[in-house]
Amino acid sequence: MTIHIGAAPGDIAETVLMPGDPRRAKWAAENFLQNATCINDVRGMSGFTGTWQGHRVTIQGSGMGMPSLSIYANELIRDYGAKTLIRIGSCGGMQDHVGLRDIVIAMTSTTLSTPSRGFFRELNFAPCADFGLLERAVAAARGHGVTTHVGGIYSSDVFYDERQDLNDQMVRHGILAVEMEAAELYTVAARFGARALAVLTVSDHLPTGAALSSDERESSFGEMVEIALEAAFA
Ligand code: ADE
Repeated sequence: MTIHIGAAPGDIAETVLMPGDPRRAKWAAENFLQNATCINDVRGMSGFTGTWQGHRVTIQGSGMGMPSLSIYANELIRDYGAKTLIRIGSCGGMQDHVGLRDIVIAMTSTTLSTPSRGFFRELNFAPCADFGLLERAVAAARGHGVTTHVGGIYSSDVFYDERQDLNDQMVRHGILAVEMEAAELYTVAARFGARALAVLTVSDHLPTGAALSSDERESSFGEMVEIALEAAFA
């Protein structure tokens, strides 16, 4: 057990999918894993371990934002030996051509700050995805016939962002989408020699203000789970 994860040693698989929402972790485990059991419910941040096509997988909620994700990523890797961590979540499309329901696979993520900022001090560390996972996720997403974008994203600390000038610069520099966790996941994974990737669905579109309904979010989420599993085990 760790401070935030109640799982016994060995309860967590080497491959972990990390949705932000713990109820999504439960939904994904019930719909995609065989013999899934709940291995964590500390603070309601549910985690489940089961198998997918014979491979052992854990699906553990990360919570929203980099400070929350950082806690789970650190404990999963350092205390439970997780080696592959794939964030599955939503993002806001920032470019005109990045439409609702499209998949965004983050090669790298820009931030103002991460929980690792104090650690790096003056250094601007460039967090990046594991290339093998990224390659396989792109192939899996294309296999699902979904429009897929691969490139840089922005991991923000705020959902209700007042900095229009900053968003404008992100758009100008080709950033595909905004979310709130990937940069810290990539940074923690790099620090401890784990592999990481973020596979995201566009749930809202900043240039137009369009957004998915909750039913549409659920079916897009299922597609992301499949893409992440295929990327992990292809
Ligand atoms: N996740 C989904 N949409 C988002 C947005 N617009 N900003 C930050 N995180 C998001």
